[in-house]
Amino acid sequence: MKNTIILFIFTLLMAFTAVGQSVSEDGSRLWLRYEPLSQNIARQYAQKITSCTSSDPSETTKLAMNEFVVAFRQMTGKEIAIAKAAVDGSLVLTIKKNDKQLVSPDAYRMESVVEKGKNMTVITAKTTNGLLYGVFHLLRLMQTRQDITSLDVAESPLYERRILNHWDNINGTIERGYAGYSLWDWDDLPATLSPRYREYARANASIGINGTVLNNVNANPTFITGEYLQKVAAIAGVFRPYGIKVYLSVNFSSPALLGKLPTSDPLDPAVRKWWKDKAKEIYALIPDFGGFLVKANSEGQPGPHDFGRTHVDGANMLAEALEPFNGIVMWRAFVYNPSSPDRAKQAYEEFMPFDGKFHKNVIVQVKNGPVDFQPREPFSPLFGAMQKTPLMVEFQITQEYLGFSKQLAYLAPLFKECLDSDTYAKGKGSTVARATDGNLFPQTITAIAGVANTGKDANWCGHHFAQANWYSFGRLAWNHQLSSETIADEWLRMTFTNHPDFLAPVKKMMMDSREAVVNYMMPLGLHHLFAWGHHYGPEPWCDIPGARADWLPSYYHKASAYGIGFDRTTKGSDAVSQYFPPLNEIYNNVATCPENLILWFHHLPWDYRLKNGRTLWDELCYKYDEGVNQARGFQKIWDRMEKYVDKNRFVEVQYKLKEQTKDAIWWKDGCLLYFQTYSKRPIPYELERPVHDLEELKKIKLNMTNTN
Ligand code: GCU
Repeated sequence: MKNTIILFIFTLLMAFTAVGQSVSEDGSRLWLRYEPLSQNIARQYAQKITSCTSSDPSETTKLAMNEFVVAFRQMTGKEIAIAKAAVDGSLVLTIKKNDKQLVSPDAYRMESVVEKGKNMTVITAKTTNGLLYGVFHLLRLMQTRQDITSLDVAESPLYERRILNHWDNINGTIERGYAGYSLWDWDDLPATLSPRYREYARANASIGINGTVLNNVNANPTFITGEYLQKVAAIAGVFRPYGIKVYLSVNFSSPALLGKLPTSDPLDPAVRKWWKDKAKEIYALIPDFGGFLVKANSEGQPGPHDFGRTHVDGANMLAEALEPFNGIVMWRAFVYNPSSPDRAKQAYEEFMPFDGKFHKNVIVQVKNGPVDFQPREPFSPLFGAMQKTPLMVEFQITQEYLGFSKQLAYLAPLFKECLDSDTYAKGKGSTVARATDGNLFPQTITAIAGVANTGKDANWCGHHFAQANWYSFGRLAWNHQLSSETIADEWLRMTFTNHPDFLAPVKKMMMDSREAVVNYMMPLGLHHLFAWGHHYGPEPWCDIPGARADWLPSYYHKASAYGIGFDRTTKGSDAVSQYFPPLNEIYNNVATCPENLILWFHHLPWDYRLKNGRTLWDELCYKYDEGVNQARGFQKIWDRMEKYVDKNRFVEVQYKLKEQTKDAIWWKDGCLLYFQTYSKRPIPYELERPVHDLEELKKIKLNMTNTN
């Protein structure tokens, strides 16, 4: 009997600890879970590191050491001391302000050294931020079970400023946010500081993010009132030890709206003084304030055009106000007019004439593509073209156009596709990354931004896998040369498990996921087929009387009895000519245009033959079908993963994948049935038949709020 009980308890224990996880998780620990390692590896690490020390007394270094000690205990079961001096087995954190090998303030080295018979692991940096990044690097190596016995690592970020943009409103909602309400509790600030501020800062520091714009680009001027600046200062105080600077989006009309001036004209002396005084006020409260982000004269936002002035007039006025304090202006190039025949051309047309005219502390923030964060766009032609003005890429981490946080779409491949695109600005190899990181053109500032996908949801991002998009933005902002696979691999190991039978299929699922979304939403370069307003489901038929033409899908797909696609060739809108040779020619010629962008650049007949011999209509059907099959495949992959994942996260992801397949079918049926009314061609017999009726789909009006 006794033996049976022991066997029973043993079996129970094994069932819990063998592969799966006993505790159900809510995802709140992100990739910083520090799960216990196998005994063997834990022993190796515990032999290598036995204490931790630094002569640097700063708060940042202290919290780096604390992070290490706690994580080490969790992973290895061993307690290490924070020692007064370096001994054999120490992890030593050293500041060397004048170290020539460290090429940037955030750079660090991590080396295994032997000094006077003492075996040590030494992290050297110029600044405390560098030390913090080094510690997180070491922890990442441990979480992913790498050898740490003979380290020789040197890291320096490829962009100086790695910034999240929050589109958070003063009332707690988030524009295009799908993970609950805003993390910032404005009503409770500055007196009460949510513990999540610190957790947020810690997560960002772990992936090298060093700046955050707290509020929506559609900016409420209230954020820069004295009352709100106190609140912002309180948040900045929590973020500071984690190396994160706070920035704000500003409303260009603030002098009139807040200062009661008769105008906000950037050339008006009183307006200029108002901004200078405002800058002084801000820096008195937040000495390391990062600067302003500005959406001007776009989608109804005020800007210098309201006063007959230019982007340069507006940006330079703000830049002069911030300059004495080393603040910067991130001036967005997201502009388009309702009357333009091709929205994709406008940012280029509006900004190119000003190249070289911006003040040195201005950087122009350009969305990755020329339209608006579509599932696939070519890169914006401004990259590589504006050579005398610093440019920064803006990505959208939140999935406004890729299924919200309801669908799994791993975005590192999308980010990489843009960063690795060759602009040919200075010949072959002039990638977007090199055109923005200071490599090709001398830039006074280098930066990159991502529109955040975080909110109050327990798992931060709504979908457990959406955390990977926050993670990969940070990792690529640090090093755009990392591959999407590498990032997925490390994220999966830290967020779920190191088990190889989990890693291989789930990594493949992630790697295929963005393309699956493209396939079932808008393959072959189609874009903006979204439902009015919320941008979740398909509405290629959407027609709102009196609406701006460029907010309607028909502006983009141009489907007719003849064919489909936007003619941006030299015979059409001529957007191709905004690209450098030979890319302009490649895009212009239908035979050389990449097929995944063919309907972005060409209007083609339904019977146009693609390289695989299929007609355009048939290929469209095949692509939509493939997308649905990929989504179904993700469900199958995930169902096999049950034993490697805790119950809660398993079930939540399983449910979302099921919904994703349903919605993929909705997209496929909606788009194909609608386009079929023009093509008048049958869906190839070997593909799944539609399960919906077009008229039934047209009636769907989702009541989506931006906080779900
Ligand atoms: C998109 C998005 C808006 C947002 C805008 C921007 O158009 O739908 O909600 O304000 O981009 O980037 O400014």
